[in-house]
Amino acid sequence: MRSAPALLAQAITQGVVACVGVLDGEVRLVACSRSNLVHRLDVGGVPVAFVKQQGEATATDGLATVAREAAVLAGLRGAPVPELLHADEESVWTAAVPGAPLHETLPHEPVPVARALGGMLAELHRHPVPPTTDVPRATRPWPLTGQAPASVRSAPEGSWAAQLAGQVLDGEGEEARTLRRAGRAWRRRRWVHGDLSADNVLVRWGEGRGGPEAHLVDLEDGGLGEPSWDLVCALRVLDECLAVAQVEHARRALLEAYAAGSGPGAEDPALRLAHDVMADTRTALSDLASWGHLHRVLAS
Ligand SMILES: Nc1ncnc2c1ncn2[C@@H]1O[C@H](COP(=O)(O)OP(=O)(O)O)[C@@H](O)[C@H]1O
Ligand SMILES: [Mg+2]
Repeated sequence: MRSAPALLAQAITQGVVACVGVLDGEVRLVACSRSNLVHRLDVGGVPVAFVKQQGEATATDGLATVAREAAVLAGLRGAPVPELLHADEESVWTAAVPGAPLHETLPHEPVPVARALGGMLAELHRHPVPPTTDVPRATRPWPLTGQAPASVRSAPEGSWAAQLAGQVLDGEGEEARTLRRAGRAWRRRRWVHGDLSADNVLVRWGEGRGGPEAHLVDLEDGGLGEPSWDLVCALRVLDECLAVAQVEHARRALLEAYAAGSGPGAEDPALRLAHDVMADTRTALSDLASWGHLHRVLAS
Protein backbone atom coordinates (compact mmCIF):
# COMPACT_ATOMS: atom_id res chain seq x y z
CA MET A 1 0.00 0.00 0.00
CA ARG A 2 1.25 3.49 -0.79
CA SER A 3 1.69 6.26 1.76
CA ALA A 4 0.08 9.67 1.27
CA PRO A 5 3.30 11.25 -0.15
CA ALA A 6 3.68 8.32 -2.56
CA LEU A 7 0.09 8.77 -3.75
CA LEU A 8 0.68 12.49 -4.28
CA ALA A 9 3.84 11.70 -6.23
CA GLN A 10 1.86 9.27 -8.37
CA ALA A 11 -0.84 11.90 -8.95
CA ILE A 12 1.85 14.22 -10.32
CA THR A 13 3.59 11.66 -12.52
CA GLN A 14 0.27 10.50 -13.95
CA GLY A 15 -0.78 14.07 -14.71
CA VAL A 16 -3.77 14.06 -12.36
CA VAL A 17 -2.55 17.26 -10.67
CA ALA A 18 0.20 19.80 -11.35
CA CYS A 19 3.39 19.62 -9.30
CA VAL A 20 3.15 23.30 -8.40
CA GLY A 21 -0.26 22.73 -6.82
CA VAL A 22 1.19 20.10 -4.49
CA LEU A 23 4.12 22.33 -3.53
CA ASP A 24 2.02 25.40 -2.72
CA GLY A 25 -0.49 23.40 -0.64
CA GLU A 26 -3.43 23.75 -3.05
CA VAL A 27 -3.65 19.97 -3.34
CA ARG A 28 -4.84 17.83 -0.44
CA LEU A 29 -5.28 14.11 -0.08
CA VAL A 30 -8.26 13.21 2.15
CA ALA A 31 -8.81 9.70 3.52
CA CYS A 32 -12.36 8.38 3.05
CA SER A 33 -12.85 5.59 5.57
CA ARG A 34 -14.62 2.76 3.81
CA SER A 35 -14.23 -0.95 3.34
CA ASN A 36 -11.45 -0.31 0.86
CA LEU A 37 -8.72 2.21 1.09
CA VAL A 38 -10.13 5.20 -0.69
CA HIS A 39 -8.59 8.69 -0.76
CA ARG A 40 -9.95 11.84 -2.34
CA LEU A 41 -7.70 14.36 -4.02
CA ASP A 42 -8.82 17.98 -3.63
CA VAL A 43 -7.43 20.98 -5.47
CA GLY A 44 -8.30 24.29 -3.87
CA GLY A 45 -10.99 22.51 -1.84
CA VAL A 46 -12.64 20.95 -4.90
CA PRO A 47 -12.57 17.14 -5.36
CA VAL A 48 -10.81 16.24 -8.61
CA ALA A 49 -9.99 12.55 -8.26
CA PHE A 50 -10.37 9.45 -6.11
CA VAL A 51 -7.81 6.71 -5.64
CA LYS A 52 -8.69 3.25 -4.37
CA GLN A 53 -5.96 0.93 -3.19
CA GLN A 54 -5.97 -2.82 -2.88
CA GLY A 55 -7.22 -3.76 0.60
CA GLU A 56 -6.69 -7.11 2.30
CA ALA A 57 -6.47 -9.67 -0.48
CA THR A 58 -9.97 -9.76 -1.89
CA ALA A 59 -9.17 -11.46 -5.13
CA THR A 60 -12.38 -12.48 -6.87
CA ASP A 61 -12.79 -14.18 -10.20
CA GLY A 62 -9.02 -14.41 -10.55
CA LEU A 63 -8.60 -10.63 -10.49
CA ALA A 64 -7.61 -8.46 -7.55
CA THR A 65 -10.17 -5.82 -6.62
CA VAL A 66 -8.43 -2.84 -8.15
CA ALA A 67 -7.51 -4.70 -11.35
CA ARG A 68 -11.11 -5.75 -11.76
CA GLU A 69 -12.43 -2.22 -11.17
CA ALA A 70 -9.94 -0.81 -13.69
CA ALA A 71 -10.92 -3.41 -16.31
CA VAL A 72 -14.63 -2.69 -15.78
CA LEU A 73 -14.14 1.09 -16.02
CA ALA A 74 -12.04 0.66 -19.17
CA GLY A 75 -14.83 -1.39 -20.75
CA LEU A 76 -17.47 1.10 -19.67
CA ARG A 77 -15.95 4.29 -21.09
CA GLY A 78 -18.82 6.57 -22.06
CA ALA A 79 -21.26 4.92 -19.62
CA PRO A 80 -22.50 6.75 -16.48
CA VAL A 81 -19.44 5.71 -14.44
CA PRO A 82 -16.28 7.63 -13.40
CA GLU A 83 -13.59 8.26 -15.98
CA LEU A 84 -10.60 5.97 -15.46
CA LEU A 85 -7.48 8.15 -15.04
CA HIS A 86 -4.81 5.61 -14.23
CA ALA A 87 -4.46 2.10 -12.85
CA ASP A 88 -1.66 -0.21 -11.77
CA GLU A 89 -1.58 -3.39 -9.70
CA GLU A 90 -2.02 -1.48 -6.43
CA SER A 91 -4.34 1.41 -7.17
CA VAL A 92 -7.05 2.74 -9.45
CA TRP A 93 -7.49 6.49 -10.03
CA THR A 94 -10.84 7.90 -11.18
CA ALA A 95 -12.06 11.41 -11.94
CA ALA A 96 -14.35 12.78 -9.24
CA VAL A 97 -18.04 12.49 -10.12
CA PRO A 98 -19.98 15.42 -8.69
CA GLY A 99 -23.13 14.70 -6.71
CA ALA A 100 -24.50 13.32 -3.47
CA PRO A 101 -25.45 9.71 -2.64
CA LEU A 102 -28.98 8.34 -2.95
CA HIS A 103 -29.70 8.31 0.77
CA GLU A 104 -29.36 12.10 0.72
CA THR A 105 -30.95 12.88 -2.64
CA LEU A 106 -33.83 10.40 -2.89
CA PRO A 107 -35.85 11.67 0.11
CA HIS A 108 -35.79 15.22 -1.31
CA GLU A 109 -37.20 14.41 -4.73
CA PRO A 110 -38.13 10.72 -4.80
CA VAL A 111 -39.76 10.56 -8.22
CA PRO A 112 -37.22 12.55 -10.30
CA VAL A 113 -34.28 10.81 -8.62
CA ALA A 114 -35.86 7.35 -9.05
CA ARG A 115 -36.45 8.19 -12.72
CA ALA A 116 -32.80 9.21 -13.12
CA LEU A 117 -31.74 5.95 -11.46
CA GLY A 118 -33.92 3.84 -13.79
CA GLY A 119 -32.70 5.63 -16.92
CA MET A 120 -29.07 5.39 -15.88
CA LEU A 121 -29.38 1.68 -15.13
CA ALA A 122 -30.90 0.99 -18.56
CA GLU A 123 -27.98 2.87 -20.13
CA LEU A 124 -25.45 0.75 -18.22
CA HIS A 125 -27.19 -2.51 -19.11
CA ARG A 126 -27.28 -1.57 -22.78
CA HIS A 127 -23.67 -0.48 -22.96
CA PRO A 128 -22.02 -2.43 -25.81
CA VAL A 129 -20.28 -5.63 -24.76
CA PRO A 130 -17.02 -6.21 -26.65
CA PRO A 131 -16.69 -9.51 -28.49
CA THR A 132 -13.46 -10.38 -26.63
CA THR A 133 -13.36 -13.05 -23.94
CA ASP A 134 -11.34 -11.09 -21.38
CA VAL A 135 -14.26 -9.01 -20.08
CA PRO A 136 -14.50 -9.33 -16.27
CA ARG A 137 -17.41 -11.26 -14.81
CA ALA A 138 -19.57 -9.59 -12.20
CA THR A 139 -19.61 -11.06 -8.71
CA ARG A 140 -22.57 -13.37 -8.25
CA PRO A 141 -24.46 -12.93 -4.95
CA TRP A 142 -23.32 -15.57 -2.46
CA PRO A 143 -26.79 -17.10 -1.86
CA LEU A 144 -26.68 -18.08 -5.55
CA THR A 145 -23.17 -19.50 -5.61
CA GLY A 146 -23.43 -21.27 -2.27
CA GLN A 147 -20.08 -19.75 -1.32
CA ALA A 148 -20.56 -17.35 1.56
CA PRO A 149 -17.83 -14.77 2.23
CA ALA A 150 -15.46 -15.23 5.17
CA SER A 151 -17.46 -12.82 7.36
CA VAL A 152 -20.57 -15.00 7.04
CA ARG A 153 -18.65 -18.27 7.47
CA SER A 154 -17.11 -16.90 10.67
CA ALA A 155 -20.50 -16.50 12.38
CA PRO A 156 -20.53 -18.75 15.50
CA GLU A 157 -22.56 -21.93 15.18
CA GLY A 158 -26.12 -21.45 16.42
CA SER A 159 -26.04 -17.66 15.97
CA TRP A 160 -28.86 -16.06 14.01
CA ALA A 161 -26.44 -15.11 11.22
CA ALA A 162 -25.19 -18.70 10.92
CA GLN A 163 -28.76 -20.04 10.91
CA LEU A 164 -29.86 -17.63 8.19
CA ALA A 165 -26.92 -18.54 5.99
CA GLY A 166 -27.29 -22.24 6.76
CA GLN A 167 -30.91 -22.28 5.66
CA VAL A 168 -30.02 -21.24 2.14
CA LEU A 169 -26.58 -22.81 1.80
CA ASP A 170 -27.13 -26.30 3.16
CA GLY A 171 -30.91 -26.34 3.37
CA GLU A 172 -33.21 -28.48 1.27
CA GLY A 173 -36.20 -26.17 1.72
CA GLU A 174 -38.10 -24.25 -0.95
CA GLU A 175 -35.98 -21.11 -0.53
CA ALA A 176 -32.70 -22.96 -0.95
CA ARG A 177 -34.01 -24.61 -4.11
CA THR A 178 -35.28 -21.27 -5.49
CA LEU A 179 -31.85 -19.73 -4.98
CA ARG A 180 -30.01 -22.61 -6.61
CA ARG A 181 -32.34 -22.32 -9.60
CA ALA A 182 -31.60 -18.58 -9.81
CA GLY A 183 -27.90 -19.40 -9.73
CA ARG A 184 -28.32 -21.61 -12.78
CA ALA A 185 -30.43 -18.96 -14.57
CA TRP A 186 -27.78 -16.20 -14.07
CA ARG A 187 -26.57 -14.94 -17.46
CA ARG A 188 -23.48 -12.96 -18.42
CA ARG A 189 -24.54 -11.05 -21.49
CA ARG A 190 -24.74 -7.50 -20.08
CA TRP A 191 -22.61 -5.05 -18.20
CA VAL A 192 -23.82 -4.77 -14.61
CA HIS A 193 -22.70 -2.93 -11.48
CA GLY A 194 -23.11 -5.91 -9.16
CA ASP A 195 -23.14 -4.00 -5.84
CA LEU A 196 -25.68 -1.24 -6.29
CA SER A 197 -26.39 0.47 -2.96
CA ALA A 198 -27.44 3.90 -1.67
CA ASP A 199 -23.74 4.86 -1.31
CA ASN A 200 -22.66 3.73 -4.75
CA VAL A 201 -24.96 5.99 -6.78
CA LEU A 202 -24.26 9.73 -6.94
CA VAL A 203 -26.94 12.16 -8.08
CA ARG A 204 -26.54 15.73 -9.25
CA TRP A 205 -28.79 18.30 -10.81
CA GLY A 206 -27.35 19.12 -14.23
CA GLU A 207 -26.93 22.78 -15.08
CA GLY A 208 -29.81 24.05 -17.20
CA ARG A 209 -30.99 20.53 -18.07
CA GLY A 210 -33.56 20.43 -15.36
CA GLY A 211 -33.78 16.90 -14.00
CA PRO A 212 -31.24 15.08 -11.88
CA GLU A 213 -28.54 12.80 -13.34
CA ALA A 214 -27.28 9.62 -11.70
CA HIS A 215 -23.80 8.08 -11.88
CA LEU A 216 -22.46 4.85 -10.49
CA VAL A 217 -19.23 4.55 -8.50
CA ASP A 218 -17.47 1.53 -6.95
CA LEU A 219 -17.42 -0.94 -9.82
CA GLU A 220 -15.20 -3.56 -8.21
CA ASP A 221 -17.98 -6.19 -8.37
CA GLY A 222 -19.03 -5.18 -11.87
CA GLY A 223 -18.61 -6.87 -15.23
CA LEU A 224 -20.77 -9.16 -17.27
CA GLY A 225 -23.73 -10.42 -15.28
CA GLU A 226 -27.44 -10.54 -14.76
CA PRO A 227 -29.08 -7.10 -15.16
CA SER A 228 -32.09 -8.16 -13.06
CA TRP A 229 -29.76 -8.22 -10.05
CA ASP A 230 -28.98 -4.49 -10.37
CA LEU A 231 -32.68 -3.76 -10.85
CA VAL A 232 -33.59 -5.66 -7.68
CA CYS A 233 -30.83 -3.83 -5.76
CA ALA A 234 -32.06 -0.45 -7.05
CA LEU A 235 -35.66 -1.16 -6.02
CA ARG A 236 -34.47 -2.22 -2.57
CA VAL A 237 -32.61 1.11 -2.22
CA LEU A 238 -35.97 2.86 -2.62
CA ASP A 239 -37.38 0.79 0.25
CA GLU A 240 -34.37 1.69 2.41
CA CYS A 241 -34.28 5.41 1.70
CA LEU A 242 -37.95 6.39 1.43
CA ALA A 243 -40.97 6.52 3.67
CA VAL A 244 -43.55 3.82 2.87
CA ALA A 245 -45.96 6.38 1.39
CA GLN A 246 -43.31 7.53 -1.12
CA VAL A 247 -42.08 4.15 -2.30
CA GLU A 248 -44.84 3.22 -4.75
CA HIS A 249 -44.55 6.37 -6.87
CA ALA A 250 -40.79 6.12 -6.91
CA ARG A 251 -40.90 2.42 -7.90
CA ARG A 252 -43.16 3.21 -10.79
CA ALA A 253 -40.94 6.09 -11.94
CA LEU A 254 -37.84 3.89 -11.77
CA LEU A 255 -39.44 0.99 -13.66
CA GLU A 256 -40.96 3.27 -16.31
CA ALA A 257 -37.64 5.03 -16.96
CA TYR A 258 -35.87 1.65 -17.10
CA ALA A 259 -38.40 0.32 -19.60
CA ALA A 260 -38.27 3.56 -21.64
CA GLY A 261 -34.49 3.07 -21.89
CA SER A 262 -35.08 -0.55 -23.02
CA GLY A 263 -33.47 -1.96 -19.88
CA PRO A 264 -33.32 -5.76 -20.22
CA GLY A 265 -33.68 -6.74 -16.54
CA ALA A 266 -36.84 -7.87 -14.72
CA GLU A 267 -38.02 -7.84 -11.11
CA ASP A 268 -37.00 -11.39 -10.33
CA PRO A 269 -38.46 -12.69 -7.02
CA ALA A 270 -35.63 -15.21 -6.60
CA LEU A 271 -33.03 -12.43 -6.83
CA ARG A 272 -35.08 -10.36 -4.39
CA LEU A 273 -34.91 -13.30 -2.00
CA ALA A 274 -31.12 -13.46 -2.46
CA HIS A 275 -30.88 -9.73 -1.72
CA ASP A 276 -32.98 -10.11 1.44
CA VAL A 277 -30.93 -13.06 2.66
CA MET A 278 -27.73 -11.03 2.21
CA ALA A 279 -29.19 -7.97 3.95
CA ASP A 280 -30.61 -9.99 6.88
CA THR A 281 -27.34 -11.87 7.34
CA ARG A 282 -25.41 -8.59 7.30
CA THR A 283 -27.72 -7.16 9.96
CA ALA A 284 -27.41 -10.30 12.08
CA LEU A 285 -23.61 -10.12 11.80
CA SER A 286 -23.46 -6.48 12.81
CA ASP A 287 -25.83 -7.17 15.75
CA LEU A 288 -23.46 -9.95 16.78
CA ALA A 289 -20.50 -7.59 16.60
CA SER A 290 -22.29 -4.90 18.65
CA TRP A 291 -23.34 -7.43 21.29
CA GLY A 292 -19.81 -8.78 21.49
CA HIS A 293 -18.52 -5.25 21.95
CA LEU A 294 -21.14 -4.46 24.61
CA HIS A 295 -20.27 -7.63 26.56
CA ARG A 296 -16.59 -6.76 26.50
CA VAL A 297 -17.36 -3.23 27.75
CA LEU A 298 -19.62 -4.55 30.54
CA ALA A 299 -17.06 -7.16 31.54
CA SER A 300 -14.21 -4.66 31.74
N1 LIG B 1 -14.89 8.77 -8.83
C1 LIG B 1 -15.58 9.11 -7.74
N2 LIG B 1 -16.32 10.24 -7.74
C2 LIG B 1 -17.02 10.65 -6.66
N3 LIG B 1 -17.02 9.97 -5.50
C3 LIG B 1 -16.32 8.84 -5.42
C4 LIG B 1 -15.56 8.33 -6.52
N4 LIG B 1 -14.96 7.19 -6.12
C5 LIG B 1 -15.31 7.00 -4.84
N5 LIG B 1 -16.12 7.98 -4.41
C6 LIG B 1 -16.68 8.18 -3.04
O1 LIG B 1 -15.95 7.38 -2.13
C7 LIG B 1 -16.80 6.39 -1.55
C8 LIG B 1 -16.01 5.11 -1.37
O2 LIG B 1 -15.57 4.63 -2.63
P1 LIG B 1 -15.99 3.19 -3.16
O3 LIG B 1 -15.38 2.99 -4.49
O4 LIG B 1 -17.47 3.05 -3.03
O5 LIG B 1 -15.24 2.26 -2.10
P2 LIG B 1 -15.74 1.03 -1.24
O6 LIG B 1 -15.46 -0.17 -2.08
O7 LIG B 1 -14.89 1.11 -0.03
O8 LIG B 1 -17.21 1.22 -0.95
C9 LIG B 1 -18.00 6.29 -2.47
O9 LIG B 1 -19.15 5.86 -1.81
C10 LIG B 1 -18.13 7.72 -2.98
O10 LIG B 1 -18.79 8.53 -2.02
MG1 LIG C 1 -18.84 1.74 -2.10
